[in-house]
Amino acid sequence: MAIGFTFTFTYKIMSKEKILVIGACGQIGVELTLELRRLYGGTNVIAADLREENELIKGTGPYVSLDVMNKEMLHVQVIRQGITQIYLLAAILSATGEKNPNLAWHLNMQSLLNVLDIAKEEKLTRIFWPSSIAVFGPTSPKKNCPQQTVIEPVTVYGISKYAGEFWCNYYFHRYAVDVRSMRYPGLISYKSSPGGGTTDYAIEIFYAAREEKKYNCFLREDTYLPMMYIPDAIRATIELMQADAEKISVRTSYNVSAINFSPNEIATEIKKHIPEFTITYQPDYRQAIADSWPQSVDDSVARKDWGWKEEFNLATMAKEMLNNI
Ligand code: NAD
Ligand code: SER
Repeated sequence: MAIGFTFTFTYKIMSKEKILVIGACGQIGVELTLELRRLYGGTNVIAADLREENELIKGTGPYVSLDVMNKEMLHVQVIRQGITQIYLLAAILSATGEKNPNLAWHLNMQSLLNVLDIAKEEKLTRIFWPSSIAVFGPTSPKKNCPQQTVIEPVTVYGISKYAGEFWCNYYFHRYAVDVRSMRYPGLISYKSSPGGGTTDYAIEIFYAAREEKKYNCFLREDTYLPMMYIPDAIRATIELMQADAEKISVRTSYNVSAINFSPNEIATEIKKHIPEFTITYQPDYRQAIADSWPQSVDDSVARKDWGWKEEFNLATMAKEMLNNI
């Protein structure tokens, strides 16, 4: 009896949500949209992007072509579709951001402000907006970088993410907008291509290993960075969004951690599957970006507040990547 009641109640709460995923055709957007549609039903999750609809999400639910910078158009869609929650994924990442700082600042900030304003006006139930390990700078601790510490980012991407975290905090405290965020590490996936980040080498290396059995890495061999396999990131995102509001003690953005490795270590792991694989190193401008970030982060607050725990380690992630590419 009690189990039946719990199930019906959970289903009712989930089924009344109408979710908009902005940036649904990107590296995270495709997999997040598919998982949200599995949980909430295809028609309840509207995918939106500037780009043409991604092949993997085609036919699984509604798609709208939308520029998040056009606030009026976004507002109309939110009202017309009866949206209750938004996952905002549109952004310019670290490496691309350094090539066009003004554009990166403009898109990363204005998209968030547009969404937060509409959330306030339409009383949306929840907003998700990801921050990044890029908020940390050279003066932050390199190892087990704490949730709260010295934060002086040196990339425009990191500056925009840090400012965004404080806008989320502001809208929560000032207007009661239930916006939630986590500082994703570098995300590793094979379903959709990455969008111009410094951690993208950890994806390229698998394609190069499969196709050419060699890889020329744009980071030095000993560059340790925090990383996460995408199934863990998708699960973390949904767990954070489904957590009871009273469990959320951080209204800026949570540190979350999974796997920390260097190019040398990932190459060694790949060689266990492809013994003839070789790696060379030719660091470029992205080395300075990576050097400004921590090698690992302390995510004990996320673990305590909403029970975060990763499932994949370097070996299991590498095996899955090589099996699926
Ligand atoms: P991505 O570049 O792969 O995807 C972003 C998507 O947003 C693209 O499909 C793009 O077409 C779309 N977009 C861009 N401008 C738009 C606009 N004006 N209107 C509507 N759509 C627009 O990025 P991603 O890797 O999927 O990252 C998603 C979010 O997660 C970003 O906020 C990013 O900063 C954050 N993040 C990603 C990583 C990672 O490793 N991928 C790590 C930390 C944080
Ligand atoms: N993967 C992202 C990047 O390298 C981190 O936010 O830009």
